[in-house]
Amino acid sequence: MCLPEKKIMDKFIVEGGNRLEGELEISGAKNAALPMMAASILTTGVNKFSGIPQVRDVNTMLHLLNHLGGRTEDFNEDRLLFDTTHINNYEASYDLVSTMRASCLVLGPLLARLGRAKVSLPGGCAIGARPLDLHIRGLELMGAKIRLEQGYIYGEVKRLRGTRYYFDTVSVTGTANLLMAATLAEGETILENVAKEPEVVFLADVLNQCGAKIKGQGTDTLVIQGVQSLEPIDCHIFPDRIEAGTYMIASAITGGNVKINNCLPRQVETLTLKLRQAGMIVEETETSVRVISDGSFNGVNIKTQPYPGFATDLQAQFMALMTLAQGQSIILETIFENRFMHAAELKRMGADITLQGRTAIVNGVKRLSGAPLMATDLRASASLVLAALAAEGESVISRVYHIDRGYFNIEEKLYRLGAKIRRKK
Ligand code: EPZ
Repeated sequence: MCLPEKKIMDKFIVEGGNRLEGELEISGAKNAALPMMAASILTTGVNKFSGIPQVRDVNTMLHLLNHLGGRTEDFNEDRLLFDTTHINNYEASYDLVSTMRASCLVLGPLLARLGRAKVSLPGGCAIGARPLDLHIRGLELMGAKIRLEQGYIYGEVKRLRGTRYYFDTVSVTGTANLLMAATLAEGETILENVAKEPEVVFLADVLNQCGAKIKGQGTDTLVIQGVQSLEPIDCHIFPDRIEAGTYMIASAITGGNVKINNCLPRQVETLTLKLRQAGMIVEETETSVRVISDGSFNGVNIKTQPYPGFATDLQAQFMALMTLAQGQSIILETIFENRFMHAAELKRMGADITLQGRTAIVNGVKRLSGAPLMATDLRASASLVLAALAAEGESVISRVYHIDRGYFNIEEKLYRLGAKIRRKK
């Protein structure tokens, strides 16, 4: 059973200029759910998940896992029961991997479980080349024979064995892939310069609950003692920090007063500091953040970095905010080489942005005006929605299927806060 696909040609019609006010609930984290679902391949039995966000990428992963021989027992609201007893197919086809790069997360688990994998190379995407060389090199060091042929990664191994591996670049899914593979490998694996994102820490913690022996999560080095088998997963996915951050900026850019519930404030701490620096009031409890803005704020600089640095997944949304700041903001994108696609669209709304390589210089303007806009990737699309909420007049945002990949019911959540936004089928 899969989620219904939202129509590919859907548009958002946004009438800007309304202050957002009220409360909303954050959904489960997409980027925590996807690796957890892929990790179910390492187990045999019925895996239980709650807090699964009903977004298109989750749908794609579920489709892939069913294709591999798994069975969706139940998928209702945010609860998923998934049986991995009969996983026997080892191919992740181009169709699936090209629509969602995170499909590559099945590579490590398939090699660990079946000793074979055929996973399509994802190719470049809207935000950069995004190769998989770090994943491949690590798996080779673990004894897998890998060849690249006709756009596919073919992997084969009798049983993966422990190794010592240093990531030249910090990679989130690279860390997840090798971590999952190492849980069932023979002997000890040491992974260095790993990602410390909450999604990776969570993956390690849940795998430990299933019987894995992983130490060091949240530090630069992971040490994994391989085990023979893992128990099925039973976990609750934590709230999406990028979704929370997006609504924090929505409140800020509209001069709003929004309380964001079901969120972990420490995971958005870097954004909170930047919003305060810009002049917002940000109030925190254990599980909520409130952003209060009077609509006038200063330009501040940001530099995207691996966690706990400023998240690249919030860069586009923050740029939208900075277009209306007083003064200048310098935005440095260090993670992806081409993650400024939204800048051209924001400029069409009247923003003053100059791009110089990986740097964007944003000079705040007094107002943005609504325009027909084109969404190019998930977070870029979110930034256009935010800009449209603050702009004068109407914006029509096409290709919102990008947004549906990672935001559950964004238009409804915004509408309930007072935004004038509707989906046109
Ligand atoms: C994850 O992508 C997230 N996706 C991305 O979220 C996020 O933007 C990114 O991490 C950075 O935080 C998921 O968790 C499913 P990386 P990932 O490997 O793992 C280079 C969103 O909007 N690299 O950490 O694919 C790479 O090109 C998405 O929700 C190599 O060179 O990113 C990039 O420059 C988009 N070789 C850098 O590392 C490799 O083998 C970091 O990428 C792997 C990565």
